[in-house]
Amino acid sequence: MTKKRKILVTSALPYSNGPIHIGHIAGAYLPADIFVRYHRLKGDDVVFICGADEHGVPITIAARKRGITPQQLVDEYYVLNRDSFAGLGIKFDNFSRTSLPIHHATSQEFFLKMHRDGKLVSKESKQFYDEEHKMFLADRYVQGTCPHCGNTNARGDQCEKCGSWLDPLSLINPRSVISGTVPVVKSTTHWYLPMARFQKDLEEWLATKKDWKDNVMNYCGGWFKEGLGDRAITRDLEWGIPVPLPDSEGKVLYVWFDAPIGYISATKEWAEKIGEPERWKDYWKNPECELIHFIGKDNIVFHAIFFPAVLMAQDGYNLPSQIPANEFLNLEGRKLSTSRDYAVWVPDYLKSFAPDILRYTLAANLPENKDADFSWKTLQRCNNDELANILGNFINRTVTFLGKYFDGKVPENVKLSAEDEAVIDEMRLGLQETGDLIDHYKNRQAVGRAMDMARAANRYYDAMEPWKLRKEDMERCGAVMYTCARIIRALNTVFHPFIPFFADSLFDMMNFPGKLTDAEWDDAWKEEVAGITIKEPRILFSKLEDKDIAPELERLAKAVERMEKEEAAEKKAADEYAKSASEKAASVPSAPEGVITIEELGKVILKVGRILEAENVPKADKLLKLKVDLGGETRQILAGIALYYKPEEVVGKNVIVVCNLPFRKLRGFESQGMLLCACTDDKVTLLTTEKTDVAPGTPIQ
Ligand code: 2FM
Ligand code: ZN
Repeated sequence: MTKKRKILVTSALPYSNGPIHIGHIAGAYLPADIFVRYHRLKGDDVVFICGADEHGVPITIAARKRGITPQQLVDEYYVLNRDSFAGLGIKFDNFSRTSLPIHHATSQEFFLKMHRDGKLVSKESKQFYDEEHKMFLADRYVQGTCPHCGNTNARGDQCEKCGSWLDPLSLINPRSVISGTVPVVKSTTHWYLPMARFQKDLEEWLATKKDWKDNVMNYCGGWFKEGLGDRAITRDLEWGIPVPLPDSEGKVLYVWFDAPIGYISATKEWAEKIGEPERWKDYWKNPECELIHFIGKDNIVFHAIFFPAVLMAQDGYNLPSQIPANEFLNLEGRKLSTSRDYAVWVPDYLKSFAPDILRYTLAANLPENKDADFSWKTLQRCNNDELANILGNFINRTVTFLGKYFDGKVPENVKLSAEDEAVIDEMRLGLQETGDLIDHYKNRQAVGRAMDMARAANRYYDAMEPWKLRKEDMERCGAVMYTCARIIRALNTVFHPFIPFFADSLFDMMNFPGKLTDAEWDDAWKEEVAGITIKEPRILFSKLEDKDIAPELERLAKAVERMEKEEAAEKKAADEYAKSASEKAASVPSAPEGVITIEELGKVILKVGRILEAENVPKADKLLKLKVDLGGETRQILAGIALYYKPEEVVGKNVIVVCNLPFRKLRGFESQGMLLCACTDDKVTLLTTEKTDVAPGTPIQ
């Protein structure tokens, strides 16, 4: 017998700022639930944790839009989202909340330990500030044009269009999301986690992960190559977990600092709920326990780099054993858009359709290795052609036949033929292979393998022709029907992780002894079923007609029409803005030449950068390609100094960097800033700091 595994499974904590949609489900929840259900049937010790992510700017912005408090908003979505998961059969052991005192206390303990141990650094930096509302504009509170791709609606922390993580100060034409005004730049002090100090340990740890998905490894490799910088873990906000230090009024922990700690506090809460408050340690501090984070690809850096660094800075916590990150799910060939209501929302779905159909369709189309697409036609086809016509058909024909000719009782004391043994063998193999696929996060293949078992079952039924045997050889007919009942028992188990509502209903109808969830996956094909009396047959899958899905298609078509109009309007506005800006620039009377206001000067963001690496650029005599440490980040800058400096002469120098110019490509390389130099016709001298101990990232005022 193989050793039972101890596994702590987590699904990303969804923000409580809106309902759950199918993209969420396909990313972090259904794959986790399938995995958990399978391992429970294997007899492994699994705890499945999730909860609501109730802090951060996404919450406060959504609350402000609705004119309610953040607390009211998160209370509302906590209930709605908890019920959506339950409605879809995503069965967490605990669905906690990050606004609970247990979570606040745990996060503050984490912060304080790191502070005490000297793992954090405090730094002053410049940030956007809304003068009308008297507040700093953290993360998404500021929007502007992305310096990478020109998207005019990039958020302060990330551009949704090109996916780049942004320094808000690099936004072009920034505006406050609250007042719409142009923010000013002000200094503020925050706590940072100097990630560079963890890089070596993180790289060594990740190098041991030979079976992790490519997307996770490649993504992390990219971050390591760039070099990890300091990451701010506090914010100037009113909503969040207060920074537990004196003189920290108005400062809270950054949501991405506290949210992953939510996995721990949710496990603590679970342990309290089951009356064993210390039990959480058995999952977080026991090296025998595997920690598996199911997430979407947009969360990779936080789970594979940032949170592990936080865990390393604590005492005795397990690091993740696996992070099966999924790619994105599209809808009818287009990117999902929550803001434009282009999504299939779970609460809406559940009003009209059965949860299993969505679970099955998504499982068969999960974005495991690349983005995937969901369409209503696919859902209809999955339901009608596979669930109803293959799986449902086999069960239906068996149950009806047994009802009609065996009084609904599975024959006993039968003698199995080689064909019967062979199909039972196929069930054994099917269970094993499906299980292995689930265990390796290949649910698309796994659900296909399970459906192949149902196909094999129908082939067997057709080949045995029980309807003929009934007239010719009742004993043989009995053996075939007994075998069919055995097959149903195996199908019941193998489909349980994917379509649990069907599995429960089938188990009840078949009147199988015991509990489905008690069953051992490895033994389901063996289960004795002789002599059981089946309950009243019921239809397990009904066909979906075109008219059933027509309203959904109509709703999406309207959303597409709306989106196209909005996109066209946005483009027009952007073009007009660009045109008027260039006209304005051309028409400004050239007041005393060169005179600028102090505000204009303040717009230029200058920082001290330290050159980490330098190399020549092939076929570009004048350019050096530099890696420059700016404190919180490392940038690649192409500088026209190669005629005056050799690469090795500049490494280690402190230079002055203009940080908020648009990024641009030079000779195929992106240049993410500019260095200040003193230039004459025949000489270029880099401006450096007078003292060499000035920290990278120090603002120039
Ligand atoms: O992207 C999101 O929806 C985040 N709320 C996920 C948080 S996962 C975890 F770290 F808590
Ligand atoms: Zn962009």
